Amino acid sequence: MTESGSLGVSAAGGAADASTRRGFISWLAVGWLAFAAGIGAFVTTMARFLFPNVLFEPPSSFKAGFPSDYQVGEVDERWKEKYQIWVVRNTEMTYALITVCTHLGCIPNWLAAQNKFKCPCHGSGYYRSGINFEGPTPRPLERAAISISPDDGQIFIEKARKFLYEKGQWTDPAASIKTT
Ligand code: FES
Repeated sequence: MTESGSLGVSAAGGAADASTRRGFISWLAVGWLAFAAGIGAFVTTMARFLFPNVLFEPPSSFKAGFPSDYQVGEVDERWKEKYQIWVVRNTEMTYALITVCTHLGCIPNWLAAQNKFKCPCHGSGYYRSGINFEGPTPRPLERAAISISPDDGQIFIEKARKFLYEKGQWTDPAASIKTT
């Protein structure tokens, strides 16, 4: 073989080696990427396991300010979003209505101009007392326990203690506080 022939063979061999090396390196890179992706997926799974999706519900009892914070004749909506409660004050009493429609559980709206609660789902309507008068709901809204906190004089509402009109429970002393 001539010298130039041997150089040609050796150059071709070098090129083949380089190509094999590049192939090996790119497979190595793919391997590492796959490994890293696997580790990432594992860590994500573990993180979801350690920190599961927990629904943080607001406490079912809360202080709602002083009776004088509420206007006589108004349906107060300040606690609707956070605690699902309307506070209603009239000349005789203050009571807490739970903002859940007794038909299938939607959230009604207070329509001040029409002086009623109206459910957007199937049209049930309730007077400001909470008593139903239209639509498919079979019964009034529920009231929550309400009292004056002895330590600071604020209104204290307990949603876990419910009072049902149809069971004669709205006359329970814990179902309302007297307006003074
Ligand atoms: S859920 Fe309110 S009317 Fe049906």
